[in-house]
Amino acid sequence: MTQPQTLTITRPDDWHLHLRDDAALAYTVPWSAAQFARAIVMPNLRPAVVSTAQALDYRMRILSSRPYGSVFEPLMTLYLTDSTPPAEIVRARASGVVHAVKLYPAGATTNSDSGVTDLERVYPVFEVMQAEGMPLLIHGEVTDSQVDVFDREAVFIERHLVRIRRDFPALKIVLEHVTTAQAVRYVRDQTALDARGTPLLAATITAHHLLYNRNAMFAGGMRPHYYCLPILKREQHRQALLEAATSGDARFFLGTDSAPHARVLKEAACGCAGCLTAPHALELYAHAFEQCGALHRLEGFASFYGADFYGLKRNDSRVTLLRGGSTVPERLPYVDGDIVPLDAGRTLDWRLERSGSLPG
Ligand code: NCD
Ligand code: ZN
Repeated sequence: MTQPQTLTITRPDDWHLHLRDDAALAYTVPWSAAQFARAIVMPNLRPAVVSTAQALDYRMRILSSRPYGSVFEPLMTLYLTDSTPPAEIVRARASGVVHAVKLYPAGATTNSDSGVTDLERVYPVFEVMQAEGMPLLIHGEVTDSQVDVFDREAVFIERHLVRIRRDFPALKIVLEHVTTAQAVRYVRDQTALDARGTPLLAATITAHHLLYNRNAMFAGGMRPHYYCLPILKREQHRQALLEAATSGDARFFLGTDSAPHARVLKEAACGCAGCLTAPHALELYAHAFEQCGALHRLEGFASFYGADFYGLKRNDSRVTLLRGGSTVPERLPYVDGDIVPLDAGRTLDWRLERSGSLPG
C-alpha cells in the first residue's frame, strides 16, 4: 500500500493548553496560532484566573501577542477555588468568552495551591454550572500522598468523579488529559447526552500520552522532558488511549496539555511537570495516529468532536500536513533562556505546511 504524502484536514483546535503570561506569550501564542484555530486556555497562572474580569484581561494580553494577521482565538477558563462565588458562573457565561471552569484538586500540579480542598464546598458552584451549561474541566488526580503517583487518576475516578456525576447528572464534564485504561473505560461507560445530543462526559488526550509510556522517563537515565502530570503510565494504558483516540468515538478529543517550563526549571533537582508540544503538536498526533493505521480518524479527533462538545462551530479553514523531514529543534528561545520541546532532535514523519512564518 502506498503511503499518503499529504493530509489536509479542517484546522484543529487545542482543547487544553497552557499559554502562561506576560513575556511568555510572545513565544507561546505564535506556537499555538501556527497550528490551531482556537484553544481552551488553562487558568493556572500566578495569581490564578479566578474571575471573569481577570479572564477578560488575560484574553486581551493573549490577543495582543498574536502574530500579524492571525485569527487564533483563545477560549478562556476560570480557576475554581473553595471560595468561587456561584454568581461568578453567571458572569462568566454572560461574558461570551469564558467557556469552562477548571477544577484542580489543591496541590495536584503546577500552580494548584489555590485549588479545591473539598468538593462539597464547590457544590453550589456546580449547581449553577449545571444550570448554565458551563463545562467543568477536571484535573482528575487525587493528591493523597498515600496513593501511588501512578494510581492517582484511577483513584480520583472511584473516589470523586463517580460522585460528581451522580450528584450533577446534567453537568458537562471533560476529564482532562486521561492517561489510564480505567479512565477510558469510565468515559466509555457514560453514554448520557445533553439536549444538543453531544456527550455529557468527554475526555482530552495529549500527544505525549499517545506516544510514550513511562519507560521514556527513564531511558538510560532521568529524562525530565518526559515528566508531566498526570505522569506517563504503563504500555497497556498507552494502548488503551491510542485505541480510544483512533476509534472515532466523539467522547475523546485533542488537548495537548502543552505546558512550557524554561529548560533551567526542568533540568533541576526538583524539575517542573510539563511537556512542550504546542510547536509541533499536529505532527506528533499524526505520527501517533499513523502508527495505528488511523490517519483517517485524525480529523474527527482534532477538529470536530471538541467543537461539537463545547457547542461551537467547526472551523472553516484547513491545514495540510506534508510527509517527511521535520526535525524537532533541540531548544527554542523562551523566557529565562530557552526551552526543550518534546522529542527534541528527533525527525518526525510529518510536517505542517506553514502559511506564515515559522514559529520558534
Ligand atoms: C501543567 C503546568 O505546568 O501548568 N503541567 C503538566 O505537567 N501538565 C499543569 C497541569 O495541567 O497539570
Ligand atoms: Zn494542563
